[in-house]
Amino acid sequence: MSTAIAQPNIALIKYWGKVDEELILPATDSISLTLDGFPTTTTVELSDDELDTIVLNGRQLTEAETMRMRRVLDRARELSGDRRAASITSTNTIATAAGLASSAAGFAALATAVNNAYALGLDATGISRLARLGSGSASRSVFGGMVRWHRGHDDLTSYAESIDWNGPELALVIVQLSAAQKAISSRVGMTRTIETSPFYEGWVTSNQRLVEQAMAAVAEGELAELGQLTELSTMRMHASMLGAVPPIRYLTGESFTVLDAVAELRNEGLTAYATADAGPNIKVLTTVAELDDVHAWLSERFPQAATLTSRIGAGAHLTEAAVA
Ligand code: PMV
Repeated sequence: MSTAIAQPNIALIKYWGKVDEELILPATDSISLTLDGFPTTTTVELSDDELDTIVLNGRQLTEAETMRMRRVLDRARELSGDRRAASITSTNTIATAAGLASSAAGFAALATAVNNAYALGLDATGISRLARLGSGSASRSVFGGMVRWHRGHDDLTSYAESIDWNGPELALVIVQLSAAQKAISSRVGMTRTIETSPFYEGWVTSNQRLVEQAMAAVAEGELAELGQLTELSTMRMHASMLGAVPPIRYLTGESFTVLDAVAELRNEGLTAYATADAGPNIKVLTTVAELDDVHAWLSERFPQAATLTSRIGAGAHLTEAAVA
């Protein structure tokens, strides 16, 4: 029995769009922070059953729902030559599929447990490639701290790695406006953006430039610069979706109210930069030193929302019981 734990990550410079749907090769690099809370715990046990079974948060998933997970398992069987099926149980602690990156934590934990269960002997880079086959952003949750996912051009060259952040210790406040399941999955949203949005090309070229600018800010420890680039990447990603037919709109009126509040917070002299993913919730980048103040300010302003805090955490790992 192999059990692994992984935590979600929040992208500062975003990933939106694949050049290869099968391998999940992204159109641009992306840069993220791995959180130190909201873990997913996944256990993989090999069995003599004919089919893989997957239980997520106590519910057995249907065949269609497990397509991505089977892709990870099939790759493991191909690499190991071990044809056995897997019985998987996975538990999230953060709202599943609500734009809070539960799939990133889920697939990073799955790939880590699968590596052990099928005795693949992969290093973290290899596990990152395996996790990518399940969900692109999961390649980043294999690592802790600040992470860059290299888009690459094939399976071997598309993987994440840790990068050194030379600025103040970072933290996030999540303003959770809704825990509802998103209406459009990121996979469907990306495809529609690519196929129908005239802004997609502009998003890809400008976002890859933002990655390069962000890498310079990371090396210099320039938080104000990194924060501004984070907001630009977020707005451009959502702009590319707004150009799709029909438009994809994850941000609600309330999301924009929070975005305004974050700008106000910054005017008051606190460190606060906003980002949002495939859902209405806003994640606010700040420092550990200012976390309590930023959290208090936002929870007072938005009493109807759940405001969660997180520091920066470690990458995916086996639990001690699995290592023993
Ligand atoms: O890997 P997916 O399918 O969960 O896509 C994630 C896309 C965003 O969360 C919107 C952006 C990102 O880089 O995490």
